[in-house]
Amino acid sequence: MRVLTGATPNDDISDGELAELYAVPADRPFLRVNMVSTVDGSATGEDARTRSINNAADKRVFQVLRSLADVVIVGAGTAKAENYAPIDGTPIVLVSRKAQVPPSLASAPAGSVYLATCSRSDGLASAKEVLGEQHVLELGSHRVDLPLLKQTLAERGWNSQLSEGGPHLLRDLVFQGCVDELTATTVPQLVAGAYPRITEGAPIDVPLELALLLEDRGTLFGRWTLGG
Ligand SMILES: NC(=O)c1ccc[n+]([C@@H]2O[C@H](COP(=O)([O-])OP(=O)(O)OC[C@H]3O[C@@H](n4cnc5c(N)ncnc54)[C@H](OP(=O)(O)O)[C@@H]3O)[C@@H](O)[C@H]2O)c1
Repeated sequence: MRVLTGATPNDDISDGELAELYAVPADRPFLRVNMVSTVDGSATGEDARTRSINNAADKRVFQVLRSLADVVIVGAGTAKAENYAPIDGTPIVLVSRKAQVPPSLASAPAGSVYLATCSRSDGLASAKEVLGEQHVLELGSHRVDLPLLKQTLAERGWNSQLSEGGPHLLRDLVFQGCVDELTATTVPQLVAGAYPRITEGAPIDVPLELALLLEDRGTLFGRWTLGG
């Protein structure tokens, strides 16, 4: 892996150097969203998951980003499609208006999975039973207040926040002004078909600034800062 922009001219970056290149400020809440897509803009392949489009280099960066995170935030659609499991040492926050916890997370050890939802959700009572009341964050009455989620997690000491999508959650996080950085992997692959992009939902128009670009055998890793 090598750096195409930025200061480090190494051609063979170690995991430690990679972690330094992706370091985040420690003194304030910082939300990064990490996503992968093909050159033709698809966020999944024919399996309707990321498995058919990600590769070893993407998985490596994915793991480094997880290692830098105090908390991982994921939308319910992604948790279900990607069969999310608890992460060792890092809590997962599932975002769901319906307060539905997928089976792969429902049986997680207490405290490893939190739910961000709204107080009018039909699934609230059952989610509290499954995860424990103290692990269910009611952030709004009819919709999840995402800036309040960011603040609530920071108040628990989780400043380094990583969202792994999916496309609808990314769009809403951006729309509500919560995202500090998008790390976007582009894999050298074309898939055509009618698959989602990394953002889905009502239109938004948000400028990005390139902070870092890495390359590994044709796979590009952009670190994009969200502009004003
Ligand atoms: N390429 C990538 O990097 C990448 C990353 C992640 C996922 N994916 C793929 O994307 C697909 C899933 O897409 P998706 O858009 O459905 O994923 P998603 O955004 O994770 O899930 C959508 C669901 O998450 C909840 N949600 C999202 N935004 C919310 C908000 N603002 N407030 C409250 N709840 C919110 C809702 O759950 P409820 O319906 O339960 O209320 C909503 O139905 C899968 O195929 C997955 O493999 C790709």
